[in-house]
Amino acid sequence: MKILITGGGGFLGFRLARTLLARGQLGGKAITGITLLDGAFPSGIKDLDKKKVKAVTGDVSNAGTITSVCTPDTDAVFHLAAVVSGAAEADFDLGMRVNLKGMELLLEQMRRIGTSGNQPPRLVYTSSVAAFGGDLPEVLDDSTIANPQTSYGAQKVIGEYLVTDYSRKGYIDGRSLRLPTIVVRAGKPNAAASSFASSVIREPLNGVISECPVAPQTGVWLLSPGRVVEAFIHAWELPAEAWGSRRWLNLPGITASVAEMVEAMRKLAGDAVAKRVVYKADARIQAIVKTWPARFRTPRALEMGFKPDPDVESVIRAYIADENIRL
Ligand SMILES: NC(=O)c1ccc[n+]([C@@H]2O[C@H](COP(=O)([O-])OP(=O)(O)OC[C@H]3O[C@@H](n4cnc5c(N)ncnc54)[C@H](O)[C@@H]3O)[C@@H](O)[C@H]2O)c1
Repeated sequence: MKILITGGGGFLGFRLARTLLARGQLGGKAITGITLLDGAFPSGIKDLDKKKVKAVTGDVSNAGTITSVCTPDTDAVFHLAAVVSGAAEADFDLGMRVNLKGMELLLEQMRRIGTSGNQPPRLVYTSSVAAFGGDLPEVLDDSTIANPQTSYGAQKVIGEYLVTDYSRKGYIDGRSLRLPTIVVRAGKPNAAASSFASSVIREPLNGVISECPVAPQTGVWLLSPGRVVEAFIHAWELPAEAWGSRRWLNLPGITASVAEMVEAMRKLAGDAVAKRVVYKADARIQAIVKTWPARFRTPRALEMGFKPDPDVESVIRAYIADENIRL
């Protein structure tokens, strides 16, 4: 079993690589190699099993790079490389190049593999709830139509349609997951407009003041990093029949307001830590975030065996345990 993870140096891609290595198998087959493609890698890359992991520094929107990493013996592709929401909104051309052209190149390479007599790799693609926007119901469900109101969201939805069509044609076997906001993101804040959802927990727990750019009552639809990595693997392992003609899925999550997150942190870490969150409105971030939905019903995902976190406290507890934070 050979695996390619694009964006393998990123927050979720790197965590997925570590989880797959620890698991040793995917779909019941022993993992023999994992190729990670990214523009840069974290220092922890040196700790990964060098016999199994190949880290390639390169650009997903470069055709030669895609051909060199997505080789005919690749069985599984997890496509995570992306210019995230805030950055794709700030630089339209960059978002189109990476999020759209990169996707097209990867799909075409997988199709070439399939038409040259090999089994095409099975794909898991990471989309986002940024697929939704505009006039939305209070609670979204599996019948709510995608109507993105950011360039990032539009690029993700186009990617989903391509995954569906390439799968319908039999060129690939693809699955697109619409991720909630992943909380708590370890490390430094990123350029995602949703970055505050992790910053309000991560920074205070690390002794740093967090300036929250949105109001305390702002709701977030969230899922923990551990659960989303489980979801990537589960999505890959489900048979094609489980997906049918609907190749995209709203992942389950939980809804929490910033105030509820801070309150849960207060319970776990105390008043002094919770007081490190200060509110400082940022109109640019607020404008993006207000187009995103915060409440969902996800019966299809639950029936297919995907799992949300039980509550916001357990999300924070998982971060404290992952990062060995002493309270
Ligand atoms: N984390 C979240 O809350 C969240 C929510 C919804 C969707 N997603 C999606 O999940 C995926 C992974 O998210 P993440 O949180 O790990 O993001 P991340 O920014 O940590 O990782 C994305 C990686 O893609 C890499 N990348 C960007 N441009 C590239 C290029 N041209 N060539 C090669 N690599 C490139 C970046 O260097 C980065 O390491 C992304 O596609 C993102 O859009 C994430």
